[in-house]
Amino acid sequence: MNHDNTTVGEHHERSKSIPIEQDNPVLVPHPPITKYYANESERAEFLQGIFDETGSEYDRIESILALGSGSWYRRQALLRAGLKPGMKVVDVGFGTGLVAKEAIKVIEDADLLIGIDPSAGMIKASPLHGQVTILDGRAEEIPLPESSCDFISMGYALRHISDLNKAFREFHRVLKPDGRLCILEITKPRSFFSIWLLKVYMRVIVPIFARMVAKNKRTSLLWRYYWDSIEACANPAEIIEAIKHAGFIEVNQHLIFGIFSEFQAKLPQNEAV
Ligand SMILES: C[S@@+](CC[C@H](N)C(=O)[O-])C[C@H]1O[C@@H](n2cnc3c(N)ncnc32)[C@H](O)[C@@H]1O
Repeated sequence: MNHDNTTVGEHHERSKSIPIEQDNPVLVPHPPITKYYANESERAEFLQGIFDETGSEYDRIESILALGSGSWYRRQALLRAGLKPGMKVVDVGFGTGLVAKEAIKVIEDADLLIGIDPSAGMIKASPLHGQVTILDGRAEEIPLPESSCDFISMGYALRHISDLNKAFREFHRVLKPDGRLCILEITKPRSFFSIWLLKVYMRVIVPIFARMVAKNKRTSLLWRYYWDSIEACANPAEIIEAIKHAGFIEVNQHLIFGIFSEFQAKLPQNEAV
C-alpha cells in the first residue's frame, strides 16, 4: 500500500530552512557500550542483528514487562502531542508497530501511516505487516520526500540512532510546516533511589524473566541492553536542545512517573514550501 501523493524513496530539492550539516556536529545519544560492540561503527550492526533475531518475541515480553508503557499509554502520548484524525503520520522505529497501531486508531485510516525501520525481523513480526506501508530506513535517512507528513512519532528508538542532529534534521525535512513531533523514551529518574529501583527491575528482573519465557537467548540480552542504553543516554535537556537546534519550536518534555518521557515539538507554520 502506498501513500497517495508521496513518492517513496524520492528526495525533493530542499525548499524549507532546514539547518545545514556544517552547523550540526554528530551527536550520538550515548558513547559506545563496549560490552556489546567495540565501537560506534559496530553499533548499527549489533542493533540490527539483535532486533532481527528477537523480533518475534518483542510484543510478548514488552506487554508483560515494559512498565505499563503499553497501548493505552502510547495512544495518550500521541494525543497529548497533538495527533488528530486525518493526519498523515510517519512512525520512525516502527518495530512491530506498537506505536503505529495506536496512531491508526486516532487517525482512523491505516493508509495515512508509513512505518520506517531498519529491522526486517521486527517488521515481519508485526501484526500490521501487509496492512500498512513499512519502509526499510532509519531516522537519520528517511526514504520520503520533503514535507510529506503532518506528524512524526518515534517510540523507544531514540537510543538507537547514530546521530541525533542528523535525525532531527530529517524529521524537519519530512514534516510539513506546522507539523508535529512526538518522541517517546524511557529516561533515567532523578533520584538515586529511583535509579537503583529501576535498574534492579530492568537490569536484573526483566532479563531473568525474558530468559525464562523467551525461546531466543538473545531476547534476554536485548532487555539487558535496554537498561544499559537508558543509563548511558544523553539527558533530556540535551535532547531538547538538539530538537530546538534542528529548527523545532514549542519543544517540551512531558514526564510521567519520573521515567516516561514524551518529547513534543512542532515546526513553525510559516516556513516556505
Ligand atoms: C525498542 S523497538 C521500539 C518499537 C516500537 N516503536 C515500540 O514502541 O515498541 C526499537 C526499534 O527501533 C529500530 N531502530 C534501530 N535503529 C534505528 C534507527 N537508526 N532509526 C530508526 N529506527 C531504528 C529497531 O529496529 C527497533 O525496531
